[in-house]
Amino acid sequence: MMHQAAPLPATAHRADSLSGAIRVPGDKSISHRSLMFGGLASGETVITGLLEGEDVLATGRAMAAMGAKVTREDACWRVFGTGNGALLEPESPLDFGNAGTGCRLTMGLVGSYHMTSRFIGDASLSRRPMKRVLDPLRQMGVAVEAEEGDRLPVTLRGPATPVPITYRVPVASAQVKSAVLLAGLNIAGTTTVIEPVMTRDHTEKMLMGFGAKIEVAEDADGVRTIRIEGQPTLKGRTIDVPGDPSSAAFPLVAGLIVPGADITIENVLMNPTRTGIVLTLQEMGGLIDIVNWRDAGGEDVADLRVRSSELKGVAVPPERAPSMIDEYPVLAVAAAFAEGETVMDGIEELRVKESDRLHAVARGLEANGVDCTESEACLTVRGTPSGKGIGGGTVETHLDHRIAMAFLTMGLAAEKPVTIDDSRMVATSFPQFFDLMGELGATISRTTPEGDDR
Ligand code: S3P
Repeated sequence: MMHQAAPLPATAHRADSLSGAIRVPGDKSISHRSLMFGGLASGETVITGLLEGEDVLATGRAMAAMGAKVTREDACWRVFGTGNGALLEPESPLDFGNAGTGCRLTMGLVGSYHMTSRFIGDASLSRRPMKRVLDPLRQMGVAVEAEEGDRLPVTLRGPATPVPITYRVPVASAQVKSAVLLAGLNIAGTTTVIEPVMTRDHTEKMLMGFGAKIEVAEDADGVRTIRIEGQPTLKGRTIDVPGDPSSAAFPLVAGLIVPGADITIENVLMNPTRTGIVLTLQEMGGLIDIVNWRDAGGEDVADLRVRSSELKGVAVPPERAPSMIDEYPVLAVAAAFAEGETVMDGIEELRVKESDRLHAVARGLEANGVDCTESEACLTVRGTPSGKGIGGGTVETHLDHRIAMAFLTMGLAAEKPVTIDDSRMVATSFPQFFDLMGELGATISRTTPEGDDR
């Protein structure tokens, strides 16, 4: 899956300023779902703006292995789906590389089929918990074989007649919610998901666009009940994937912490289940102008103008975590350049991402002279606005793309350069990261162990 076999370290240097306008690649969550739902629906789905990162490409290969026809011409992807209920048994294991979203959603999608499917992944994905998705599948009648602790490799054998269930998701996770809803697509009757804390709603919104019958009700406490009617006809459609706010977060923070910076990030998805980072950085005093709000195929998008700012520490409300769950590593970097203390509580889910992100961030901050305290579900960072004394360390990235990009962002404002041990995983979600940051004026060097610059 990875093109470069050996680790590829990278070093980011303090920037004089940053300027210009960039467009980040398509949203990862929507890109996975576009290929998946397009591969399932009848007829043709045409996708523009797809994120062509390793994670998403793995989902495309998995859909092709189950009978979908996936083609690319220039920057336009065309998917000819099998029709709902008509996926084929994959002949070999489905390899999801580093991608938790692709793997968990596809487990849901195929688990309710009367067939055998096997799931494998890289060292990071093979350490991540799958029980959260396998438990509801077991309740539907799926036979599961897994490594100890419900880890990959996993083999699923769906029953002849899967049972529709009502499932209350025990953790705030869009992946778990989505896996149950997708399994429900191939089960006669109504499958119900109860979601106590709202998470990103791309599965519900996009499936409705493909023709699924989904009802969403919300009670006074914000508890959502989502009902999906099984065995609908899904029809292919046209999708223009908006820019990924989780990728935008890196230039966004860079624009705030690099002195004299003034940059614009265009076409960013502004779905409220994804914009916690923008709100938090604004609360910290970040100068972020949200301009050119518009509707793009049912999702809000906007351009973000970002200027160098004097940041102040804040306490981030724990209930905001689902709307910025992937952005805490780079928020911790912003906090390192803020006056006072930033408290990030209620973030225990960070421990089961591509790496234990709470641990990886705390060690990376310490290695670069930033004062912080880590507990089971909380990270507190005490910042230095001038960046004086920050940097000079090497960060262990643990096969985690967001740890890699967060600490390269830190190096752009730190007094001394910041090095990461491996930059290969950046290609899983943001292959253009180095080029786009370079366009803004950043100096980030990548060096192979043999000493060749990249
Ligand atoms: C995602 C959901 C989140 C997020 C991941 C993408 C999705 O994971 O961290 O990067 O597309 O549904 P959880 O659902 O496990 O929180």
